[in-house]
Amino acid sequence: AYVVTEACIKCKYTDCVEVCPVDCFHEGPNFLVIDPDECIDCTLCVAECPAEAIFAEEDVPDAQQAFIALNAELARAWPVIVHRKDPLPDHEDWLKVKDKLQYLDK
Ligand code: SF4
Ligand code: F3S
Repeated sequence: AYVVTEACIKCKYTDCVEVCPVDCFHEGPNFLVIDPDECIDCTLCVAECPAEAIFAEEDVPDAQQAFIALNAELARAWPVIVHRKDPLPDHEDWLKVKDKLQYLDK
């Protein structure tokens, strides 16, 4: 499955959701996740993300391995999102910030 990682936090551009053929994105307050049980590895969402937040599970950087389990966990708790919406306020500033896991709202 593909995995949304920390670059999405506090940006949440939502371009990714429009291209997913199986509607497997789920939305939280300041982050999206992919349901690993629904993702068919089509790769289409990767190029859509301005934050380059989406990786194949086997390519998730070492420092972000926690996001693999987080996507699975939060996909069960959060509703599906299928339509693009405006990114979060200050998304341009947050795009440059590293180590954003501490800002994740669940
Ligand atoms: Fe959806 Fe394809 Fe991205 Fe998986 S890889 S989340 S199926 S767009
Ligand atoms: Fe997040 Fe990128 Fe989608 S910032 S909402 S994974 S387009």
